[in-house]
Amino acid sequence: MIKNILLGRPFLIVFNITRRCNSLCTMCSIWEIPSKIKDELTLEEIEVIFKDLKSYGAKHVFLQGGEPLLRKDILQIIELLIVLGFNPTLITNGLLLNENNINKLSDLKCNVSISLDTLDRERYKKIRGVDKLPLLLNIIEQCSKIKNKKGMWHINATISKVNYDEALDIFNFARKNGFKFNAYPYNYAHCHSSAHDEELSYEEDRDKIIETFNKLRLAAQKEGMIFDKIIYDDAIKYLEGKYNMPCDAMKRSILITENGKISPCLEFKPKCNIKEIGIHQAFKEMDYSKIKKCYTETPCFYGCTRGSGIVIRKIPEIFFFTLRHPKIIASYIKAYFF
Ligand SMILES: C[S@@+](CC[C@H](N)C(=O)[O-])C[C@H]1O[C@@H](n2cnc3c(N)ncnc32)[C@H](O)[C@@H]1O
Ligand code: SF4
Ligand code: SF4
Repeated sequence: MIKNILLGRPFLIVFNITRRCNSLCTMCSIWEIPSKIKDELTLEEIEVIFKDLKSYGAKHVFLQGGEPLLRKDILQIIELLIVLGFNPTLITNGLLLNENNINKLSDLKCNVSISLDTLDRERYKKIRGVDKLPLLLNIIEQCSKIKNKKGMWHINATISKVNYDEALDIFNFARKNGFKFNAYPYNYAHCHSSAHDEELSYEEDRDKIIETFNKLRLAAQKEGMIFDKIIYDDAIKYLEGKYNMPCDAMKRSILITENGKISPCLEFKPKCNIKEIGIHQAFKEMDYSKIKKCYTETPCFYGCTRGSGIVIRKIPEIFFFTLRHPKIIASYIKAYFF
C-alpha cells in the first residue's frame, strides 16, 4: 500500500458487488437497472480478481452496490477478502441486518457503515422510497448492544435539502448508540450512479448546507474525530466552490462493478473488464486526463474518491493531532491497517 501511495496508484477498491437493491432512493440510479444474479461475479472470480488487485498493492475495499447484503454469500466474500489481506468496509442500507449476520459481522475484522439520512419516518420514505425507518432503527439498536466489535461501525448520512437540519441530531444519535459518524453532501452533477431529485438538490440552499457541515466539523473536532474533521474542511471548501481540489479517482481509488468492469469512479461509465485483462492492462487502457477535466469543471464529493486522498494530503495535520491524542489514532490504525 505504501508503494501505491508513493506511486499515486489506487489502494482503495470500491466494489459495487451487485446492482440489486431493496430500496428506491431518489438520489441514486443504481437500482433502476438491477443486475441479474447470473451476471454477477462468483466467489471464485472475486478471488482471482482480488488476488490480482492485492499484488497491485491495493489494501482497502468498500463493499457496496446496490445493496451488498442481497448477496447470499456476502459473509464468505468478506472472509475471503480478509484472508487475502484486505481491509473491508461494508456499506449498507442496513435493512437486511439481523441477529445472525450482525453477530457474525461484529466478529470479523470488517468495518460496517450503515446509511441513515434522517430520523423522521416521512423523510425516510421520501429519500429512500420505502417505509422502513422503524425497522432500521430497531436494527441499529440491536447493533448497539454488541460490544467488542472487531471493526469500526459507522452511521453514514447523505446530506441534502431534505435533511440538512437534522445532521447534528443524526450525529448525536450515532454517538449515543456507540457508532462513529460521517456525512457527505448529496451529489447530482453527473447522474451515472447518482440521480437528480429537485427536492433534494440545494443550489438555492447552499449556505444552509455549508452551515451544517461547519457544525459537523465543530462536533467532530470536539470529539477528537480528526479524519472526519479534515474531510469536512474540504467538503466545506468544495461546497463554497473556493477551488477545485483533486478528487483522486484513479490515483487513490478505483471502482469495480458487479461483473468485473473497471471505472475511475461511480460517475464514469466502465469500459474494460479486469476479469479478462487484469488490473495492469486495465490501467493502461484508462485515460486519466478525463478525470482532471471532470474534477476541474464538474466536481463532486464522494467519500471514496475524496476521503482517501485527503487523508494522505493532510498527514502533517494528522501527525500533530497524534502527538496530542495517540490513543485515538491507535484505534484508527488498528481498525484500518491490522
Ligand atoms: C450507493 S450506496 C450503496 C450501499 C447501500 N445500498 C447504501 O445505501 O448504503 C452507498 C452510499 O452512497 C450514498 N449515495 C447514494 N446516492 C448518492 C448521491 N447522489 N450523492 C451522494 N451520496 C449518495 C448512499 O446514501 C450510501 O450511503
Ligand atoms: S443509495 Fe443504496 S439503498 Fe439507496 S437505491 Fe442506491 S444502492 Fe439502494
Ligand atoms: S469529480 Fe471525481 S468522483 Fe466526481 S465524477 Fe469527476 S472524476 Fe468522478
